[in-house]
Amino acid sequence: MSLDMSAAKTPASPEKASLKDARAEHARLGAEIAKHDIAYHQNDAPTVSDADYDALRRRFDALEKEFPALADLPSPARGVGSAPAQKFAKIRHVVPMLSLGNVFDADEVQEFVERVRRFLGLGAEASVDITAEPKIDGLSCSIRYEKGELVHAVTRGDGFEGEDVTANVKTISEIPRKLHGDAPAVLEVRGEVYMTHADFTALNKRQEAEGGKVFANPRNAAAGSLRQLDSSITAKRPLHFFAYAWGEITGGMPASTQRGMVEAFAKFGLPTNPRMTLCRGAGDMIAFFDKLGEDRARLGYDIDGVVYKVNDLAYQDRLGFVSRAPRWAVAHKFPAEQATTLLLGIEIQVGRTGALTPVAKLEPVTVGGVVVSNATLHNEDEIARKDIRVGDAVVVQRAGDVIPQIVRVIVEKREGDPPKYAFPDVCPKCGSAAIREIDEKTGEADVVRRCTGGLICPAQAVERLRHFCSRNALDIEGLGDKQIEFFHEKGLIKTPADIFTLEARDKERVAKIENFEGFGKVSTRNLFAAIEARREVELNRFIFALGIRRIGETNARRLARHFGEFAALRACARAAGDPASEARAEINNISGVGDVVAEAVADFFVEDHNERELDRLLEQVTPTPMESVATDSPVAGKTVVFTGALERMTREEAKAQAERLGAKVAGSVSKKTDILVAGPGAGSKLTKAQDAGVRVMSEDEWLAMIAGT
Ligand code: IVH
Repeated sequence: MSLDMSAAKTPASPEKASLKDARAEHARLGAEIAKHDIAYHQNDAPTVSDADYDALRRRFDALEKEFPALADLPSPARGVGSAPAQKFAKIRHVVPMLSLGNVFDADEVQEFVERVRRFLGLGAEASVDITAEPKIDGLSCSIRYEKGELVHAVTRGDGFEGEDVTANVKTISEIPRKLHGDAPAVLEVRGEVYMTHADFTALNKRQEAEGGKVFANPRNAAAGSLRQLDSSITAKRPLHFFAYAWGEITGGMPASTQRGMVEAFAKFGLPTNPRMTLCRGAGDMIAFFDKLGEDRARLGYDIDGVVYKVNDLAYQDRLGFVSRAPRWAVAHKFPAEQATTLLLGIEIQVGRTGALTPVAKLEPVTVGGVVVSNATLHNEDEIARKDIRVGDAVVVQRAGDVIPQIVRVIVEKREGDPPKYAFPDVCPKCGSAAIREIDEKTGEADVVRRCTGGLICPAQAVERLRHFCSRNALDIEGLGDKQIEFFHEKGLIKTPADIFTLEARDKERVAKIENFEGFGKVSTRNLFAAIEARREVELNRFIFALGIRRIGETNARRLARHFGEFAALRACARAAGDPASEARAEINNISGVGDVVAEAVADFFVEDHNERELDRLLEQVTPTPMESVATDSPVAGKTVVFTGALERMTREEAKAQAERLGAKVAGSVSKKTDILVAGPGAGSKLTKAQDAGVRVMSEDEWLAMIAGT
């Protein structure tokens, strides 16, 4: 909000500062107060006495009282919040915040007007004035003023109880802390908090650069920003507000019409929407709706329709509410905007987790005033279902979200029989195989195709590096998310092996890490030491760190236990590329591992890119035997199969015990089986073992053998 500088020209009384001076003092005091606020609230280390702080605050408040325009200026004294609360307090709405019914076309608008007339018993000749205004696509908020002072602000919540977002709303500069003029004793102003398109784009850019959350649309961004527990974050997010309704009011209504009320809000210093118009009937209302639809793209903020309200407040009172919506108001939503254009191509994007997402490249077309040249295609099944082919004429639609969709193909316009779209089965970023996993439960292929080049795919690099360094993986202290992103961006760490060559390369470089901002000699030395300390790492951690699909900590431990050393796993997994191979069966047979996991392991090792990266990595890192596995027990390294009933312990317990002693527990008998523990009722496994000359023992014999270990 700009300041009215003409006021500065009015001569000030001698004891009063001029507005210009006041503004300078206000700014200086604001900065000082903010500094003390941070010291007190966030650092728990006050920098002034309470009395001095109070004096600063009093002077600051006095200036705002004397020059109300100052109260509307953004000031850091308002922006800095206290330390984040655990969660928002709940506040009940004295007057519930209700929702609106909808109409979708001109006939329904006409019906709304007729209904109002009928209810009020108005003759055909009597006119009913109705206001029309944009329906803002943000989130509604109720702000309570007592004696003109903002006391609290609450989200809509369930309409009856919302969240106390007072501290956050106070950071929105265009919402006055103090109302101007002669405001009612209690005034609850209701309206919409929203974010402009420009601010939304800038915020997302910033978020992306900082690795923060990227928002789908301005509404989500506004909601995410208002519902921050830490109001200093909200303070950095540019939010706006339009006042359009009210809750409790005591001490006299400022007006007797809807329009008069909103005009009064504006006089009190609240932002109101400039497009609000008084309509004399359905014709005017439709004209307003059509014009707003035309102007929609140029407004600079998202709207999703028009809200019509009966202007006369006495009528509003008589009309009242039906269920949870007023009879005196209705929302007229814009239809989803559509246009026809050509599909020029399909681009495959690779996400951070390796998911391949198809994006339609369109001949640019204006949809509801916005030029669209990309649309989401969701996944390959969707492309097949809609039979979308490159070169097709397609209908595009913009719904609530910013990303447009392809509704359908106009088949009549297709020339000849262009080839059906073939979704790639290799990753466009790194050339690795891209596969659709089979869902264990349904047995159906996952809708998402994923790149298997986890270690080398640039699209997945940062995510993979993070996983590699994480606590249960390599656990490299000093290489947190921020540092990884930083080194990756600088091109210093692209793959896991690069971590271990970082120090050597740094020695060769002119621009040393210790000179980068935020590093310095000590932390760089510590970082290198932490990396050195992890050149030897337990096998299970190493396997887990590779980020193989479906290999979490438990499966990594199973593989480590079974194979004992990395080379054995690697050789077997490489040979397991063929689903019919013995190698695949071996992995499959490891207790707790099944088809799906075995396939994921094979897919990873079959990939030459991953193999090369593994070679590089193994030059730097040595996997060591899993700590908890005994190597000196009589069953260490032996493959054991349990069959039949066990009488002294459960099957699960027996397995766990055997594994602790370094044995591998398999589910079926093969050439590699060393021992078959057979209880009563043993069937085919026993016969097979006997035929193969495998050592067979009873549960008691087994227990005797491992006793004392
Ligand atoms: S009036 C009792 N006016 O739309 C009626 N609502 O679908 C109070 N909205 O929850 C609502 N712009 O969040 C009204 N100009 C406007 C609006 C508006 C957006 C939202 C509001 C409400 C929802 C109902």
